Amino acid sequence: MSRIFDVAEGNATSCPRKNASLDVKIQIDVPVAKHNNNRSCWVVLYGKVYDVTDFISSHPGGANVILKWAGKDATEEFDPVHPSGTLEDNLRPEALLGSIDTATVVKSEPRSDSSVQIEMDPPMQSLLNMDDFEQLATKKLSKKAWAYYYSAADDKISKSLNTQAFRSILLRPRVFIDCTECNLETQLLGNQVSMPIYVSPAAQARLGHSSGEAGIAEACRSLGALQIISNSASMTPEQIVANASPEQTFGWQLYIQDDRAKSERMVARVNKLDAIKFIILTLDSTVMGKREDDQRFGNVIDEITEVSYSKGSKESIKKKAFAGMDPSITWTETLAWLQTRTHLPIVLKGIQTHEDAYIASLHRSQVKGIILSNHGGRSLDTAPPAVHTLFEMRKYCPEVFDKLEVWVDGGVRRGTDVVKALCLGARGVGIGRPPLWGLAAGGVEGVKRTLRILADETKTCMRLLGVQRVDQLGMHHINTRVLEQQVYDGPSGLGQCRAQFPSKL
Ligand code: LAC
Repeated sequence: MSRIFDVAEGNATSCPRKNASLDVKIQIDVPVAKHNNNRSCWVVLYGKVYDVTDFISSHPGGANVILKWAGKDATEEFDPVHPSGTLEDNLRPEALLGSIDTATVVKSEPRSDSSVQIEMDPPMQSLLNMDDFEQLATKKLSKKAWAYYYSAADDKISKSLNTQAFRSILLRPRVFIDCTECNLETQLLGNQVSMPIYVSPAAQARLGHSSGEAGIAEACRSLGALQIISNSASMTPEQIVANASPEQTFGWQLYIQDDRAKSERMVARVNKLDAIKFIILTLDSTVMGKREDDQRFGNVIDEITEVSYSKGSKESIKKKAFAGMDPSITWTETLAWLQTRTHLPIVLKGIQTHEDAYIASLHRSQVKGIILSNHGGRSLDTAPPAVHTLFEMRKYCPEVFDKLEVWVDGGVRRGTDVVKALCLGARGVGIGRPPLWGLAAGGVEGVKRTLRILADETKTCMRLLGVQRVDQLGMHHINTRVLEQQVYDGPSGLGQCRAQFPSKL
C-alpha cells in the first residue's frame, strides 16, 4: 500500500492513497510530526517517510542527532554526511513507510546555521597559503560544518602544538649547489606518487562542498597525490574512486565498528576496488575526544554526551566510545582478524610513542607502515605531535625506520613543515584540514591550489637547502635543539614491549 504523507508547518498527516482492496481514498490522521520521540520516531528523507525508532540506539552518529530531527524533514541535515546506500544498509525494508507529497511541505523555520552567502568569491589565485583558505572557508561554511572541521579536543593544545612543533625546528641551508632541478616524486608503500604530501582521511567532505571526497579525488588525480579515504566519508568508496586515473593511488581508512559484520562488509567492498592500495587502521580515536566547538554549534558526529556511565561494565565502556566504534580492539585479536579479511597492506594510524612504533615493527608480517598522528589534536589533548614521536623513535628504536614505512600528519601548513618531517625520517606527510578548507573555499579548484601551493613551497625549501630529491633530506638539514627540550626523555619502554610479545622477536 503506498501512502502519501502531507507535511504542513511541521505537522504531517498520512493518508493511504487508496485501500488496495476497495480502491477508495481513506484519510487517516497520522501526523509525522507526532512521531518525534524515542518510542516512535519518524523522519522524512528525500521525500520518503521512515520509521527509524529501532535504529535510534544503533545510529553511529548517536541517538541525539536522530531525535533532533524526529517528526521532521531531515534531508538537508542527512544528505551531506551520509554516503548513498546508507538507508538501505542500515534500515529494514519495512522502515520505509511511504512517500511524502513534497508540494505540501512547508519549511518550519529557516536554519539558523545555514551557509552565509558570499557575494563574490575571490579568485583562487589570490589565496596564497593554507591560512588564506581556512579564512575563506570559515566565511563560507555553516557554523556547524566549520565547527566540525575546526574543532579539536579540550583546549586544543595538541592541535596548536602540531603546527608550533614544526615552526620550532630551524633549517640549515647549504649553498653553492646546483638546484635547477628539484623533484618531489617518491613512492609510498611501493606506489609512485608525484609528491610526499598526501590527503589524510578526514570525514564529511560534502559538508564543505557538494563535490565532496570525489572532488578531492579529482584534485589529487590532476596533481598525482595520494588520497586516503575516510571511513566516515560522505560518499561511498566506489563513488570516490569512480573517475580515478589508472595510476592514481588511494588508501582507505578503517574504524572498526562495534558491529564487526559492518566492517567486514566494508572491507570486502574495498578489496574489490583496484584503485585502493592499502588499508589504514585508525587506532587513536576509539574513544572520541571532547570537542567543544562541535558541542556549541551542533555535533555532526554526535558523541554520546548523555549516557550515564556505570562503573566498569563492558556496556558502559562501549557507550563511552565514539559512537559505533569498537573500543575493544587489540594488537593480537584485531590484526589477525583484519589479515584474514584483506589481501591489502595494513598501515596503523595514530602511533604516538616509540613503544607502539616498536610493537608495530614486531608485527611487520601484518603491518607495512605506521602513521604517527594525534588525529589532528582531535582525540587526546596534550598528546605529542608527530614530530615528537619521530624524535622518540630516532632515539629509542631507530631500526623501525628500516622495517616499516613511517608517515606523519598533524599541523602541516607549509612546505617547510613537509621538508622538516622528511628530514626526521618520515616518508609521507599527510594534510587533513587543509584539503577540506580548500574544498570549502573553492571546490575542486580550491583543493588543487592547496596541494599546488604546498608542493611549490616544498620545492622552494628543498632548493634553498641545496637539495634536488626528497631522499637527500636528512638530519643535517635541521636544527632541532628547541624542540628536543619538549620531547619525551624518560626510560625506554622497549623491554616491556619485548616481554609483551616474546613470540614476535
Ligand atoms: C573525526 C573522525 C571521524 O575526527 O575521524 O571526526
